[in-house]
Amino acid sequence: MKLFVDSGNIKDIETLAAIGIIDGVTTNPTLLAREPGDYRENLKKICEIVKGPVSGEVTSTDFAGMLQQGHDIAKIHQHMIVKVPLTRDGIRACKALSGEGIRVNVTLCFSAAQALLAAKAGATFVSPFVGRLDDVATNGMELIREIVDIYDNYDFTTDVLVASCRHPIHVVEAARMGADIATCPPAVIDQLFNHPLTSIGLEKFLKDWEKAQAVKA
Ligand code: E4P
Repeated sequence: MKLFVDSGNIKDIETLAAIGIIDGVTTNPTLLAREPGDYRENLKKICEIVKGPVSGEVTSTDFAGMLQQGHDIAKIHQHMIVKVPLTRDGIRACKALSGEGIRVNVTLCFSAAQALLAAKAGATFVSPFVGRLDDVATNGMELIREIVDIYDNYDFTTDVLVASCRHPIHVVEAARMGADIATCPPAVIDQLFNHPLTSIGLEKFLKDWEKAQAVKA
């Protein structure tokens, strides 16, 4: 399973990319609005850092506006993916942009029916938001299972990009279900590394090593 960072923060992305386990980046208008500087320049820098797919979202809500912004976003860098919302105009824009060879991530997906439309419109990625479903007392990961089943039934090539991941269990469950990608904020990626027994074990190994060196000296 691929791991993307859900962030617009260049420092955070640089730090995680240096470890070598990051395959791409997702951004959204909320995340980009938090960062200083020109968003197009920031997206370009992010593309140069990760050398993988970087999603940038349109803010227009009508078909013509989405097409125009989609072309603009795609021109920023070859790694850019145009993110469109799962609306009628968004699906239409997905079909048109995908037809031109521009890769599209259909975002704000909250149902299997919506995911089916994204695949039919030729989306490269579909982003079901698991955390936001959990927030309204609906099991987000169940949606991932449904989408993976449906896509497998018909060999759709759209990648299931599990979004709105809030904790490591979302990531592990996504991998168990065979989702293609999980996108996580930097804090959740940090949590993936942690286990108390690793820290305790390492501390003991180093102490034992030091003690033995002191005896030998
Ligand atoms: C993904 O593309 C979205 O940017 C993101 O995962 C949304 O996460 P949130 O629900 O934590 O804001």
